[in-house]
Amino acid sequence: MTDTLQKLFDDTVKDLYNAEKQFLKAMPKMAKAATNPQLKTAIADHIKQTEGHVTRLEEVSKFLEIKPTGKVCKAAQGLVEEAQEHLEEVAPGPVLDAAIIVCAQKNEHYEICSYGTLIAWATQLGLNSIVPLLQQTLDEETAANDGLSKVATGAVNEEADAAKPKAPAAKGKASLK
Ligand SMILES: [Fe+2]
Repeated sequence: MTDTLQKLFDDTVKDLYNAEKQFLKAMPKMAKAATNPQLKTAIADHIKQTEGHVTRLEEVSKFLEIKPTGKVCKAAQGLVEEAQEHLEEVAPGPVLDAAIIVCAQKNEHYEICSYGTLIAWATQLGLNSIVPLLQQTLDEETAANDGLSKVATGAVNEEADAAKPKAPAAKGKASLK
């Protein structure tokens, strides 16, 4: 039974550790499916950062004397499934890029909310020595989210809006000419 703020804190660290790992696994597929070079770079950069976020959560867990493993983040599972659905169903090019950005930003927002809350709880619990670790990751997640917004509004949204629908395949006739 989770009956203290400390236990809730520990559970949330484990949840976030699993979420980071799930996102880490999903991001290379998103980078590969992206067409816009800035988007590819933004995701590739965030993969490297996310490896650091995993390491920081391991440090936080060491401080808390808990194992970070053993929890499955259901929210991350849903977010990854949704991204996968887009990769399968959206036409490659700028429209898929726009879809990838919204999925990546949903991931960032989940993380931003979680790290923000962990920082507030750590402060409340007097766990001041781990606050800088959590804050560093929160700052990187926020910057990653802002970077994705710039890629979206700087080029991708306009390109996606200009995308022409593909003509449906002609049935029964090789050519209309
Ligand atoms: Fe992230």
